[in-house]
Amino acid sequence: MKFQLDNGALEKTPADCVVIGVYEDPVFSESARKLDKISQGYLTKLQKKGDAPTKIGQTVLLYHVPNIKAERVLLVGCGKEKELNLASYRKIIASSIKALSTLKITNILLCLSELSLAKHTMADKIKQIVQVSREALYQFTEFKREKKAAPSLQEIYLCAEKITPKLFNEAIKQGAAIATGATYTKNLANLPSNVCTPSYLAKEAKTLAKKYSSIKTRVLEKQDMQKLGMGALLAVAKGSPEDPKLICIEYKGTRKKQNPIALIGKGITFDTGGISLKPADAMIGMKYDMCGAATVLGTLKAAAELKLPLHIVGIIATAENMPSGTAVKPEDIVTSMSGQTIEIMNTDAEGRLVLCDALTYAERYHPSVVIDVATLTGAVVIALGYHASGLLSNHQPLADELLAAGTEIHDRAWQMPLWEEYQEQLKSPFADMSNVGGRTAGVITAACFLSRFAKKFHWAHLDVAGTAAMMGGAADRYATGRPVPLLTQFLLNRCK
Ligand code: BES
Ligand code: MN
Ligand code: ZN
Repeated sequence: MKFQLDNGALEKTPADCVVIGVYEDPVFSESARKLDKISQGYLTKLQKKGDAPTKIGQTVLLYHVPNIKAERVLLVGCGKEKELNLASYRKIIASSIKALSTLKITNILLCLSELSLAKHTMADKIKQIVQVSREALYQFTEFKREKKAAPSLQEIYLCAEKITPKLFNEAIKQGAAIATGATYTKNLANLPSNVCTPSYLAKEAKTLAKKYSSIKTRVLEKQDMQKLGMGALLAVAKGSPEDPKLICIEYKGTRKKQNPIALIGKGITFDTGGISLKPADAMIGMKYDMCGAATVLGTLKAAAELKLPLHIVGIIATAENMPSGTAVKPEDIVTSMSGQTIEIMNTDAEGRLVLCDALTYAERYHPSVVIDVATLTGAVVIALGYHASGLLSNHQPLADELLAAGTEIHDRAWQMPLWEEYQEQLKSPFADMSNVGGRTAGVITAACFLSRFAKKFHWAHLDVAGTAAMMGGAADRYATGRPVPLLTQFLLNRCK
């Protein structure tokens, strides 16, 4: 899909459709006012009859509006002008694009960048338009015999005043790269686990290196992990015929020597719970337990698309968590690569086990910061629901950077405490620590466990169990691509 600037008169556009926002208040948006004037009060009449849309995202499609060259005008409700925020702005864009997606039209003039959003710039709005439009048209039909027709909508013209062409193009480019990264993440995450295995993820990372000369991929095999003493990661993989992989992807967008930013992803391609087997219902959605890994790949893709002048390493710890005669058992004790011993009290707390060895491995890159992304706990879904990722960090400035990036791009995180007091819950009578911390504060004790392997660098942990995939019922399950926007915005801000 192409996005272009067009500040010409809306009544003269040759586009197939003009999209115009209508507030609930009697006041008109700028374009609504223009349209009303040119059409001799058409909109006012509609409003008087009570037929104009008002509620956020409600749409009305009009044909042959007087004195308007475009054949169609789509009115979209924007609610109260003063109450508009980034969340409702996204809804307005999404429902406009969805309303048009079934029509046989190829180009539209979208007059929605004029809506006023406190605390956000024109560039912010343009980035959202690109991202949300691409998201609204997303389809995953790889396994459907009957494929839905691809949407005919190809070109979106935007009226955007008070922005230079240079800044406009930059915003479009950033929005497009984030959308491309998130789409890639969604496509990987939506694959079933009989296709997307640890070796599939490794192959995918190598394909990424073929496509971008700035990316190099290296894969550590089981034997390499044995040599390195990654006893925790290896324990998780023991029950599965699929071998684990540690995938290292290096992106170099600058010749300057820089301590890299390390992104670590949890890549459990399916989480049965292992011997601490999950109940059948709780297993649905566990193909998404590799969303952290998919996020790392998607974010690196976005960085490569944008040619960011940064040095980034992605480290993906991937395995399948299965029960079997060879699987790791409750109360087994393993030695991690760091030398710390772990009593595995619950084989379903496997994410922290694969991540702890990846964190230790990250030390050899002398990273400036390390961020891990993981669908780590059900507890984060209880605490924060589906709207915020859990954020925990041993370095407040890093936490602040991530929180700000999330707010800016509307892929938000919420910080939880990583206080010393919680560490006690991880005590084991037999090993240096247990891999679970009891019923209370599950998000925090999981992060406390990881923090013991992150002592040598500034580190943040994103628990995305509630945000990376949506489980809205049997027929309503999908990957969201989060937190690719948050992380890409974080990287963009680091380039400033
Ligand atoms: N992958 C799950 C976490 C999860 C739960 C992700 C629900 C998405 C939706 C993780 O490996 C897990 O099983 N965590 C356990 C930890 C517990 C045993 C301490 C959990 O949350 O129940
Ligand atoms: Mn688990
Ligand atoms: Zn898991």
